[in-house]
Amino acid sequence: MKIFHTPQELQEYRKTCQGSVGFVPTMGALHNGHISLIKKSVVENEQTIVSIFVNPTQFLATEDLSKYPKRTQADLKICSLANVDAVFMPEVQSIYFPLEPTIVAPFSKAYILEGLSRAGHFDGVLRVVLKLFNLTRPDRAYFGKKDAQQLYLIQNMVKTLFLPIDIIACDIIREEDGLALSSRNIYLSNEEKKDALLISKSLKIASKTIMSRGRKTKEIAKAMRETLLPLHVEYVEILSREFEPLESIEIGNTIILVAVKVGTTRLIDNIWI
Ligand code: PAF
Repeated sequence: MKIFHTPQELQEYRKTCQGSVGFVPTMGALHNGHISLIKKSVVENEQTIVSIFVNPTQFLATEDLSKYPKRTQADLKICSLANVDAVFMPEVQSIYFPLEPTIVAPFSKAYILEGLSRAGHFDGVLRVVLKLFNLTRPDRAYFGKKDAQQLYLIQNMVKTLFLPIDIIACDIIREEDGLALSSRNIYLSNEEKKDALLISKSLKIASKTIMSRGRKTKEIAKAMRETLLPLHVEYVEILSREFEPLESIEIGNTIILVAVKVGTTRLIDNIWI
């Protein structure tokens, strides 16, 4: 497995790639969720490139970037065992320049939900993803459905900037007990882990309600909020796949999204109906 630290090295390597290239962008601290994306890419492409880059522009000034978990050696081992062809681990200075044009995420979709409490977060995500796409020039890029809003905004960027890349949306990976995998789960105490199970429980209740009692989104959100009562709920939203409000569930076009705080740890989860 090759490891590149500069854009130039990666670009040189990219010129030599034969066949389709799959790309999995990450910020490291890889868990089974990332591994499922990587494995899918390895199966579907001749070459797989993984990036590990804690992107400063998607963090708020108040967020402590240095606290983001770093497990470089373990991450490299995981990539190597998964048959990744190349890992790109650049320094911040080689990615960002003092003067550069920047992409801005569409306001109405980027300043709701995750963007409401993290103004500018998605501008930073699109900015780095566009740069990484330009460097890796992938045929396919793999993103988890867990970050549904990020996935939507990236799909929108690819569509509207005419980027020749297939965005592959990958299912959420969960622990056996239902907790969605996240790099943040390491911050949960055993007690908090139990509390966090209310999140997937509320989503299960939502799908059961849809099956048995009806499709009115207000009622479903109410039932979910009741389940989540012991937690600090940031939002429960039932939206279309275009992130528009829905009065009634539309099968095949609905995402139910939850964000809560368990202790000091903020967790998100969703289901696609
Ligand atoms: O989802 C993430 O880990 C990040 O937002 C991404 C896509 C790697 C961009 O920094």
